[in-house]
Amino acid sequence: MDMQGKVVIVTGAGRGIGAAMCRQFAAAGAARVIVSDRDAEAAAAVAEGMGPTARSIHCDVASESQVADMVRQVLAEEQRIDLFCSNAGITVKGGLESSNADWQRMWEVNVMSRLYAARAVIPHMLERGTGYLVQTASAAGLLTEIGSASYSVTKHADLAMAEWLSTHYGRQGIRVSCVCPLGVETDMLDDSDPIHRYLQLRSITADQAATSILEGIRSEQFLILPHPEVLEFFRLKGENYDRWLRGMQRMQQKLTREKAA
Ligand SMILES: NC(=O)c1ccc[n+]([C@@H]2O[C@H](COP(=O)([O-])OP(=O)(O)OC[C@H]3O[C@@H](n4cnc5c(N)ncnc54)[C@H](O)[C@@H]3O)[C@@H](O)[C@H]2O)c1
Repeated sequence: MDMQGKVVIVTGAGRGIGAAMCRQFAAAGAARVIVSDRDAEAAAAVAEGMGPTARSIHCDVASESQVADMVRQVLAEEQRIDLFCSNAGITVKGGLESSNADWQRMWEVNVMSRLYAARAVIPHMLERGTGYLVQTASAAGLLTEIGSASYSVTKHADLAMAEWLSTHYGRQGIRVSCVCPLGVETDMLDDSDPIHRYLQLRSITADQAATSILEGIRSEQFLILPHPEVLEFFRLKGENYDRWLRGMQRMQQKLTREKAA
């Protein structure tokens, strides 16, 4: 899809990858970019820096009514939504000890938000016979995240939702892409954590991630991999699951020892 003249919503766009996506979509010719975030001030600052193409909307994606209201508002103002990017996401470190409340929050922000967006926007896109959904999942959705069980599980679900949407609506004019990066230099990466420091070895900037996302949208590719090596890791997993798991177990042990030291 060519970005020229398009009306676009990006969630979680007050900083990080979402903010970079907004700037690059505008530079590529989008007619209107909605910078949406739970942090209203951050979203407003990003939109302000972008000039008249952009406008900010406060929206907590864990709330179905807020997502539906945002979509209604944009349709009333712009008469169409060409691209909805479900980018907002959070992480919580930890394994079995993570609280049920944390698991629930991860489920709501990383997964239910994708359902709320699709529910709100797909009827309009089907009516027009065209529309595009992008979900920022993670390489953790194809592989796993050593330091966070809830991130691994919810990002697998994020990817599963994107696959299902593409399968179900692909023949009705709806295109879907799922972005699966490794480390991206944003507030999400924690320098003090050896697991995140390991991710930083291969990390890219939010701008580099956004460039890859824009390119993936241009070529209407389902799986957008800002780190091309993820395809090789995914292939190795598919080829021999047990060998891949043994490698992950080794890495888990090494990183846990470093964390304890
Ligand atoms: N940074 C990485 O290394 C990395 C790697 C793979 C995938 N991702 C994914 O990329 C996406 C963007 O992450 P980022 O690295 O830019 O993080 P970030 O923390 O820099 O930005 C996330 C933004 O989302 C907003 N947000 C959080 N919860 C929200 C909610 N409930 N409703 C609306 N907005 C909310 C935050 O206010 C923030 O502005 C996430 O889905 C994340 O899981 C990040």
